[in-house]
Amino acid sequence: MSEKILVVDDDIDSLKLIGLMLQRNGYQVSAANAGYQAIAKATAERPDLIILDVMMPDMNGYEVCKRLRANSETQHIPIIMFTAKTLIDDKVAGFEAGADDYLTKPTHPTELAVRVRTLLNKRAALQRTASGGRSNQGVTLGFMGIKGGLGTTTLAINVAAALHRMERNPVLVDMCPGSGSIAAMLNVQPRSIAELLAKRASELRQRVLEDQFVHHQSGLSLLLSSASFREAQQNYPPETAVAIVRQLRELGQPILFDLGTPLNPNCNQVQREMDLLVVVIDAIRSTVDIARQLLPQLEAARAVPGRIHLVVVNRTSGGIFMPWHEIEQVLGMDIRAIIPPAPELAHQAMAAGMPIVKHQPSAIISAQIMKLTEDLQTHVQKHWDTEVAG
Ligand SMILES: Nc1ncnc2c1ncn2[C@@H]1O[C@H](COP(=O)(O)OP(=O)(O)OP(=O)(O)O)[C@@H](O)[C@H]1O
Ligand SMILES: [Mg+2]
Repeated sequence: MSEKILVVDDDIDSLKLIGLMLQRNGYQVSAANAGYQAIAKATAERPDLIILDVMMPDMNGYEVCKRLRANSETQHIPIIMFTAKTLIDDKVAGFEAGADDYLTKPTHPTELAVRVRTLLNKRAALQRTASGGRSNQGVTLGFMGIKGGLGTTTLAINVAAALHRMERNPVLVDMCPGSGSIAAMLNVQPRSIAELLAKRASELRQRVLEDQFVHHQSGLSLLLSSASFREAQQNYPPETAVAIVRQLRELGQPILFDLGTPLNPNCNQVQREMDLLVVVIDAIRSTVDIARQLLPQLEAARAVPGRIHLVVVNRTSGGIFMPWHEIEQVLGMDIRAIIPPAPELAHQAMAAGMPIVKHQPSAIISAQIMKLTEDLQTHVQKHWDTEVAG
């Protein structure tokens, strides 16, 4: 069956014209000529894509976009904003409201067709990954800070929430027994993974792991650590952490691990098991120097091209930072994302016990995290596709 596109515009001529262009390209078309009607139709019909005009009398397109993004039933539908203006401000406002792309009027039929096809293909790829890709093997993503306090846990929580926004069903694991902070950040009682880590590898069963999951209001399944000396100092059987990772992978969902820093005793064993490793740095010279020593070791641990994704978190806007291209030069690696400072938002989200990307989906930092998450997904997809081909 062909894909369904909802076109929203208060101008009937424009509706007809766009509708015709889309029908010629083989899509089913549905139309709405006002903001409220657009929301009602999007919820009832679940189109595969929405083309949304900005200037409408009852509710402007940005507001419609924000409301669609705030509703779990419609938040994943790709949206192209459509505007008569060509001002850069409009573009920014559109992206901030959660639009995926934009088009200016009058639109050339070819451009419309290309933009629509690109977004639909992207979504189809995400859904293929969501349904488990080629097999029932889940993917493992590790988050590791080059040192403490860089924002690693915040990033892990938010990439997990971003995946959830993209209709995935991720599990987020706090692999830092004794210094776990996910529970505190999401405002839930910790139920510690230490109990599992203390078991013999042979005693672990999927069911036992799942019984430890905490289901959070954000939609995430969590496997937590608590903060206590006793847990931090305990000696865990070395192969158990690895067994936990492997069992979790069998669940067929994306599994995200907060690995803390290299000081975490579990960090090194577990990082080898990661299909993707997100390494967090800041733009301070001393951090970059430590990263320069550590990255080759991480690369040697599992030599899969593109396994390591380098992310810079800028927690503060002041100070003297190394330029990103200099960091890339020193480390011989691309920076995959730069997360901007958002101290107020980080604080507010924590007070609400919610990930930033869910608490404030329209914020710039949320857009950056969504983009990074898409990049990670694309990488995972490629990885699976090559395996199928090979
Ligand atoms: N982009 C950001 N802008 C501003 N503040 C941030 C940002 N990211 C994280 N923070 C804040 O920085 C602090 C440390 O963050 P977080 O706990 O995620 O770091 P960490 O690297 O996991 O630290 P630890 O080494 O203690 O585990 C928190 O108060 C968090 O809210
Ligand atoms: Mg942390």
